[in-house]
Amino acid sequence: METGGIRVNNLHKTFGQGENAVHVIQGASFEVKPGELAALIAPSGAGKSTLLMMIGCVLDPSSGEIWLGDTQVYQNRWLEKDTRTLRREKIGFIFQAHYLIPFLNVLDNVRLLPLANQEPLPQVEARARELLGYLGLEEKLHAMPSDLSGGQNQRVAIARALATRPQIILADEPTAALDIERAHSVVQLLRQIAKEQRVAIIMVTHDERLLSYCDKILKIVAGKVDTLPPPETTETFI
Ligand SMILES: Nc1ncnc2c1ncn2[C@@H]1O[C@H](COP(=O)(O)OP(=O)(O)O)[C@@H](O)[C@H]1O
Ligand SMILES: [Mg+2]
Repeated sequence: METGGIRVNNLHKTFGQGENAVHVIQGASFEVKPGELAALIAPSGAGKSTLLMMIGCVLDPSSGEIWLGDTQVYQNRWLEKDTRTLRREKIGFIFQAHYLIPFLNVLDNVRLLPLANQEPLPQVEARARELLGYLGLEEKLHAMPSDLSGGQNQRVAIARALATRPQIILADEPTAALDIERAHSVVQLLRQIAKEQRVAIIMVTHDERLLSYCDKILKIVAGKVDTLPPPETTETFI
């Protein structure tokens, strides 16, 4: 059986205490399997980033359960000693801004994390070149981020997220800074990556035109998550 993906059960997150408590996530349960691209949607302030950061092992939940593949990583507390290692090895992040390191070239930006994970250099080198080729950047290996367009930099950021062979990619509004044409091509690429690299991808988006590329929609409603099929057309959905 294929392993990987993410499963969340009855997850809660409350910020603050007593009178000031804000119950942002109140019993979220969902699953994203390897090969699936899921969109995470909800109005601003509903808890999308909060949820993403909890499953990214960056933010502590208040209670609940999280599995990354077959491994349960959270049950009312983190079960692995070192959440930093967990997220470095299992999870790739993509943000609205690309956050590439400006004084490193494209190839070095992609090599950085797997080298920090102490993967052997020849293997890291081969993987970085393969990924950059796969993303159509073979001509740009030695370019600096400032020499590239927004869409090209976002593709480098995608290559960087994939460089450590994560089981899960979490993308918080990865297309928000792009025009609609580039946004379409980045989401099509994420879909292709999910299928071909057998990664589970969760993408926060505000753009309903992009939902039809997704396998499922995770919609936060009153702190819980409704799992919905993607729309067949791009009619109003959010
Ligand atoms: N560190 C924090 N402390 C207190 N409240 C927070 C914190 N982070 C987020 N919140 C609150 O949680 C709610 C959800 O925020 P967020 O997850 O950023 O929403 P979204 O990404 O859907 O716009 C908001 O009301 C926000 O003010
Ligand atoms: Mg947010």
